[in-house]
Amino acid sequence: MGVIFHKTAQQFHLFNNKISYVIGICPDGEVGHLYFGKRIHENQILANEQTRGIRPLCCNRKENEDYTKELALLEYPAFGNGDFRSPAYEVQQDNGSRVTNLVYVSHNIYPGKKRIPGLPASYVNVETEATTLELRCLDEVAGMDVTLFYTIWENYPVISRYAKIHNVGKTTFVINKASSVCLDFYDNEYEWMQFEGAWGRERYPKVRNLSAGSSSIESMRGHSSASYNPFVIVKRKNTDEHMGEAIGIHLVYSGNFRAKAESDMYGKLRVTMGINPRWFAWPLAPGDEFYTPEALLEFTQNGLNDLSQTIHSFLNHQMVRSPYKGKGRPILLNNWEATEMDFDEEKILRIARKGKEAGVELFVLDDGWFGKRNDDYAGLGDWFVNTDKLPEGIKGLSEKVNALGLQFGLWIEPEMVNEDSDLYRAHPDWVLAAPNRPRSLGRHQMVLDYSKPEVVDAIYDMLYQVISTASISYIKWDMNRSITECYSQGAPATEQGTIYHKYIKGVYSLYERLIAAFPEILFESCASGGARFDAGMLYYAPQAWCSDDTDGHERVKIQYGTSYGYPIASMGAHVSASPNLQTGRDIAIDDRANIACFGTFGYELDLNEISEEEFQKVKEQIVFMKEYRELFQYGNLYRLQSPFEKNISAWMVVSEDRKDAIVVTYKTLKTPNVGIDRIKLQGLNPDGKYRINGGQTTYGDYLMEVGIPTQDGEESWFYSDGDFSSRRYILKSEVTK
Ligand code: DGJ
Repeated sequence: MGVIFHKTAQQFHLFNNKISYVIGICPDGEVGHLYFGKRIHENQILANEQTRGIRPLCCNRKENEDYTKELALLEYPAFGNGDFRSPAYEVQQDNGSRVTNLVYVSHNIYPGKKRIPGLPASYVNVETEATTLELRCLDEVAGMDVTLFYTIWENYPVISRYAKIHNVGKTTFVINKASSVCLDFYDNEYEWMQFEGAWGRERYPKVRNLSAGSSSIESMRGHSSASYNPFVIVKRKNTDEHMGEAIGIHLVYSGNFRAKAESDMYGKLRVTMGINPRWFAWPLAPGDEFYTPEALLEFTQNGLNDLSQTIHSFLNHQMVRSPYKGKGRPILLNNWEATEMDFDEEKILRIARKGKEAGVELFVLDDGWFGKRNDDYAGLGDWFVNTDKLPEGIKGLSEKVNALGLQFGLWIEPEMVNEDSDLYRAHPDWVLAAPNRPRSLGRHQMVLDYSKPEVVDAIYDMLYQVISTASISYIKWDMNRSITECYSQGAPATEQGTIYHKYIKGVYSLYERLIAAFPEILFESCASGGARFDAGMLYYAPQAWCSDDTDGHERVKIQYGTSYGYPIASMGAHVSASPNLQTGRDIAIDDRANIACFGTFGYELDLNEISEEEFQKVKEQIVFMKEYRELFQYGNLYRLQSPFEKNISAWMVVSEDRKDAIVVTYKTLKTPNVGIDRIKLQGLNPDGKYRINGGQTTYGDYLMEVGIPTQDGEESWFYSDGDFSSRRYILKSEVTK
């Protein structure tokens, strides 16, 4: 692993055992892109095909007649100087010009990786894990110094990228666009997978052809959103789960974003991703710096499942920071679907007691414990306990829950305020609101202006008071509306285009302060379910509530889609009551648990309300999960059959040593008289003899090459049950060969 600079050829070669990324300085000094893909010899000088002679309508400079930017592959392309594709960045100078030209000046190569001030980013545990290349470029006329950061990782086919823009001139310029990544491809025979949806059906995979025109996805909601996730996979058309080339691109950011793919008339493809340039205008004064969020580029030649395994491991090791990093997550019981806001201390303790009897480890008190929060019209912003409901406060309740032998967790929604709250009455100018215009409410609430440090300070002080005086092991940080009328009251007109970004930086700063003050707390992020499920959030909160839709059948799709870009250990997944609150569907409790176990696992119901038979099953599920949670959360995941394609879907996890594996299959609808289909397992030791559910043993090669039948038939392991049923197989290999 390392970075080599070939001085004569002016080429930088970043490489590890799996990948190479090659950058070449163009004839006019701009930073060009030469290669990203499977490892090639690091001493190979790459042909620079960027000089291709004069062509009609292409523009060039006199001193470089053979070179036209239009035909070049570029790392951080400018606007207005001969490249007509989407630029990576755009700045408006004080004379009104948007023309720029960045020229390579110098570079620096060093072990390790720097942090990005105020933003989440991948990090090294020890310096030898990664090497960083910094490329400094200059536009003398604008007084703009841009550093491009590239980190190559020893153990992952991953490149981390971001940029810093520094005003070294004498006048302010306005940044209107600053992508985190631009990736140019020699051809456009690609498609991408985007992960889209809405509340209750987050991150469904959808494939789009990229070979003509432009495609883009974005969020303008102020959070990364359930509509489109800030993660795409650019892949060859024949790439499937188990073979073929693909590049994953994550934006490590939780605010407005745009990912765009553009195919040009020469059959080349450009993909850019970063902060959404819509309503982004960042004035950069002389001497000031601006950092883009980070982007991650992940590569595979072996299909989407291999790509996901890389991503899971990378995010678990190089992004998650919590003391729960790499650890099995506590099995929790959350009261939300059981009580909503209608509770008192005794009701809560009754639920917690039953949870303890079942074997759960952590009880979480959800919304409704503070201010005048009896419905969703009031209370947000007043982060002090409602003593009508909890006379002994959070302190008293948390101690009683601890006395039961459970950890205690608490829900907060610190970015929001209700009109009916002391906070809003005292500070009506602390909400985002456009002058002289009606303001939209979402769930009857407004968004606090986190671009103002005094707002973040005030919320921090209130939360600190609650958390520091109680016994709290876990916090669920919710966020239940998108931002509208994004205007910071009292801020100058020239600052208004910075507010969306400053808002999310304010959110990050509050997370950072709470983590520093309470380093042992496990954070779970949430946004009406999974509307802010992104790599940036994982830096602060190692797990995220996947969706408010807890219906087992819907969850198979949501968690399956989420698994392309995010680890199982990051997916909040609970067993809830039946019929399901969101869909009205009835699914047996073991089938609900069989999907929730591919996640952080917990319960979201009143266990006093279920039958004795079901309660016994819950107890068994918890015993099972305690034994296998590390395997589920950190084992290698194999997606075997997609719920978006067939009536039966399946996935499995395999331990690193391949001795243990768990397969779960899910049936949507029972269908009579169908043929015998098979599901081939993956990732096993071909020579290992696996005992299945404590019964017969079978060689790994048989299970992988022949598979298990998915209907009643010749084998007895797989009976077809009813609608929305599941089957679980625990595989244990005793001896090899
Ligand atoms: C939305 C979350 O997704 C739910 O789990 C719950 O916490 C509610 N908010 C509480 O208001």
